[in-house]
Amino acid sequence: MINVREQFPILQQTLKNDLPVTFLDSGASAQRPQCVIDREKEVAESFYANAYRGVYRFGALVDEQLEATRDAVRDFINAEHTDEIAFVAGATMGLNLIAFGWGKHNLQPGDEIVVSLLEHHANFVPWQQVAKQTGAVLRVLPLTDDGQINLSQLDQVISNRTKVVAVTGMSNVLGTMPPLKLLSQKAHACGAIFVVDGAQSVPHVATDVRGDGIDFLVFSGHKCYGPSGVGVVYGRKELLEQTEPILFGGHMVDQVRIEESTWASPPARFEAGTLPIVPVIALRTAIEFVRDIGFAAIHKQEQELLALAHQALCEVTGVKIYGPGPAAKGPIVSFTMDGAAAEDVAHLLDRKGVFVRHGHHCAMPLHNWLNVPATIRASFGVYTNADDIHRLADALRYVRQRLRLDD
Ligand code: ALA
Repeated sequence: MINVREQFPILQQTLKNDLPVTFLDSGASAQRPQCVIDREKEVAESFYANAYRGVYRFGALVDEQLEATRDAVRDFINAEHTDEIAFVAGATMGLNLIAFGWGKHNLQPGDEIVVSLLEHHANFVPWQQVAKQTGAVLRVLPLTDDGQINLSQLDQVISNRTKVVAVTGMSNVLGTMPPLKLLSQKAHACGAIFVVDGAQSVPHVATDVRGDGIDFLVFSGHKCYGPSGVGVVYGRKELLEQTEPILFGGHMVDQVRIEESTWASPPARFEAGTLPIVPVIALRTAIEFVRDIGFAAIHKQEQELLALAHQALCEVTGVKIYGPGPAAKGPIVSFTMDGAAAEDVAHLLDRKGVFVRHGHHCAMPLHNWLNVPATIRASFGVYTNADDIHRLADALRYVRQRLRLDD
């Protein structure tokens, strides 16, 4: 097993009634290791200053460290150029930038945008809205019964009218990992661009934008063991050059005249205002932390934990797990308990120190398809271990008792 749990101070606490912290909500926000927390403190204590504005030594060091993160991200996702990486407020902001900065200026009435039924609202609503504003049509890739993209339907949905195919790298509800390379080949064969929402996938599987033919990718720092408030947009150079800014202000301009303004080259064009300086710098530490563990070790551990979780949860009466089996997904287990509302289950799990997310997880179209209003989601990080899974299963039995489901 990966041995990093001691590096997460938040997990070392003992809660009231001597309960350990069983944190199973890394899909929402992963915890930060000590090295990331230390780096944030170091920047604040040692050389914090604004970015790209001061030539004095703190300012110059901030600029250098921001660019070091940009280069670390480039390497992490196998992009070709450092200036293909822009920092934004988060993955949602990044997808809005792609939809409204690229889509709005490149889509015509009758063009088609294809998303999948797995999408988080952040990769669904911006496309739906840009379709309304441009006259483009939003189409949705259907799923197989076990929640994978139904590849037999690709030709019915993706055609020469398709201009954008935008899918998640890993469903935040089912853990499903769509076949990115195959989808990008299909998109490119039809002349469409291929966009990936990597918010869930980037922390868990190696990302290769060039190998997988990804034209735009987004991910966020806070799901990748880094700070919140920073997200990344990768865009292929030619596409970023065709992308208009959606936020205007300082740093993103070339010339400003009373009548007209022109924009800086990417990525500065997309970085209006002051960047989240400390989060961006600490994001490099988080990326190095993940790389030091390695995706092979992460995958092995996640697969073992997923197999254990599926087995342990299936042994709890009334639990139904949604989506593909452990071998075909990332470290996310969403389930319902017969006779219990998801919110009640989550509340009662908290009493045992077990922290999960409940609800529609910002994926209402998917929950409508699943025909449930809400699920309970356990999602893992590198610090998750078998004890966490056993505590979840035991706590679910406690929930059944409390709700008198076995009487
Ligand atoms: N997108 C995050 C989640 O799935 C917040 O929980």
